[in-house]
Amino acid sequence: MGASASAPIGAHGLPFTDADRALLSTLRRDLHAHPELSWQETWTQERLERALREIGVADLRRIAGTGVLAVIPGTVLGAPVVALRGDIDALPITEATGLPYTSRVAGVMHACGHDIHASWAVGAALLLARTPAASEVRILLQPAEEVGQGARAVLESGALDDVAIMFGAHVDRRFTVGQVVAQAGPLAASTDSFTITLHGAGAHGARPQESADPIVGAGALIMALQTIVARRLDPALPGVVTVGTLRAGTAANIIPESAELSGTVRATTPASRALLTREVARIADAVALTHGLRATVAFSDGTPPVVNDPRAATIAADAARTVLGAASVVPLGTTNMGGEDFAFYQERIPGCFLRVGAREPGGEPTAAHSPRFAPDEDALFIGAAVLAECARLVGVAAP
Ligand code: NI
Repeated sequence: MGASASAPIGAHGLPFTDADRALLSTLRRDLHAHPELSWQETWTQERLERALREIGVADLRRIAGTGVLAVIPGTVLGAPVVALRGDIDALPITEATGLPYTSRVAGVMHACGHDIHASWAVGAALLLARTPAASEVRILLQPAEEVGQGARAVLESGALDDVAIMFGAHVDRRFTVGQVVAQAGPLAASTDSFTITLHGAGAHGARPQESADPIVGAGALIMALQTIVARRLDPALPGVVTVGTLRAGTAANIIPESAELSGTVRATTPASRALLTREVARIADAVALTHGLRATVAFSDGTPPVVNDPRAATIAADAARTVLGAASVVPLGTTNMGGEDFAFYQERIPGCFLRVGAREPGGEPTAAHSPRFAPDEDALFIGAAVLAECARLVGVAAP
């Protein structure tokens, strides 16, 4: 480990043997070639169980249907229990990377790097089994992140009830290999959605005076919703209100009975999440009233915002510096307005979610969920080593 390097050292100074690297790389490429959608990760589950047994981890069980939970004993009885999470599911995307281990499943692809996340969780298990932490470490291979359901299922199982602190990470091609984001506060957004139905009165298109026109109301409502972020939200906080669908009407000369809008609300703190949601409902009612309509508003809760705990973030940043050198920890820059279901854990367990650089020098910053998303494989070894180090530092950090 290069503890005192002044620049990121990349994946080559890490504590892996050639055999470790071959095992983890083979695992990752197998997972990549056999992607499975959320809640269908049965091949993946068996492959991950096999990999864990290969590295000598015997204490493992299935969790949340298609997930796996492995336990690595610690060296100090009563030390706080740590969980390290890697998500394992893929996306309904047709791969266009041209990689030699490209997806063999039509229309399904590991386009979000969860093949690497699952593999670095196994890599962390390998390192911790070899050199245990003070703490017992739960290696959590979580299904169904992409649909925002897996973390809730894991929590409902009770398997993390006694976990004191938790870490997870995501590959990110906005950052080069060897860079790590590990900071306190908001990291990713909440992902709630809404459906608003405006109920009016239909009429002939030539006789608007006999109608309560939901299309005009919908137009006004779409514009009014834009004032929430502009006029209600603290400008220092990122937020989004997007209307993504508008459905109304059957013919050019008919004013319809109703119009339906749906959209997504993104916020980065619990308070701003509550504000945006409240304002969408309030403005829908008020605009409906203005146009002689009635609004029904339905919200569907997505993931909460990812908000990193200060102490967990300090541990994670220290872990990255220990493994990769002082210059490895970089600021997030722009908050990610996408969602991440790790946030559900953070509502119950202090935790830090890291971003692990996955762009090779000179490469493009291709975003996840692109059919060309191809994180550099060195990120696998870096993620594994940093997560293992997070677990080790918990045991020696002040409570
Ligand atoms: Ni992802």
